[in-house]
Amino acid sequence: MSAFVEFKNVKKTYKTGEVEIHALKDATFEIGKGEFCVIVGASGAGKTTILNILGGMDTLTSGSVKLDGREISKLGKKELTAYRRYDIGFVFQFYNLVQNLTAKENVELAAQICKDPLDAEEVLRQVGLGERMKNFPAQLSGGEQQRVAIARALAKNPKLLLCDEPTGALDYNTGKAVLKLLQDTCRKKGMTVVVITHNSALAAMADRIITVKSGMVESMRLNTDIVDVEDIEW
Ligand SMILES: Nc1ncnc2c1ncn2[C@@H]1O[C@H](COP(=O)(O)OP(=O)(O)O)[C@@H](O)[C@H]1O
Ligand SMILES: [Mg+2]
Repeated sequence: MSAFVEFKNVKKTYKTGEVEIHALKDATFEIGKGEFCVIVGASGAGKTTILNILGGMDTLTSGSVKLDGREISKLGKKELTAYRRYDIGFVFQFYNLVQNLTAKENVELAAQICKDPLDAEEVLRQVGLGERMKNFPAQLSGGEQQRVAIARALAKNPKLLLCDEPTGALDYNTGKAVLKLLQDTCRKKGMTVVVITHNSALAAMADRIITVKSGMVESMRLNTDIVDVEDIEW
């Protein structure tokens, strides 16, 4: 049987005029269903490229990518849009909320375009924002805005939650609380969560740790000594 996520010999070359940049030279890894996976590596290693390809936001130059047995690398433009819409939830470093919509409206907006969305209010309560639904992003702290972004992604009820440096804009303790929310979501909902980070200390909280270096997967291992994020110091 194949893994839930399968990334096989993926290459990605960006061409800018005469210049070719090999963002991914040869990346191979897999992720099991319901796992909390941390992808770690230095800036420029190719982490975002991996996540964007996995999320259908970018195409690959060669190789193969599968989610739940489906070959993503062979999808056409329309199918890729549907894949992004129905199967993937994204959480970005800078939240990307719509500023003139309330927290609840931001979550509803994303849920509207889905087949089988979860209730916006219910998801906002789950991320600890039951009392802040009517607030606009500017009235919320960074950590609260990231919680809205997580609720927005979860309300789509995606197969895969992809988070690119989700704590990059947050202070230490707020960042920890957001990571705890992601870890709890994985445990309680059985959600498969992928978190990208340049902070190798965070690897300790993962079920699976993938290290990326210079466009290649340097190592992949299952973590047998999982640490609660509250107990990780960096
Ligand atoms: N759209 C693009 N055009 C050209 N080069 C890119 C593009 N996106 C990323 N790159 C390059 O690919 C490499 C990997 O980038 P990225 O995946 O963003 O790394 P990371 O997220 O690990 O910091 C870097 O050298 C980066 O400059
Ligand atoms: Mg990046």
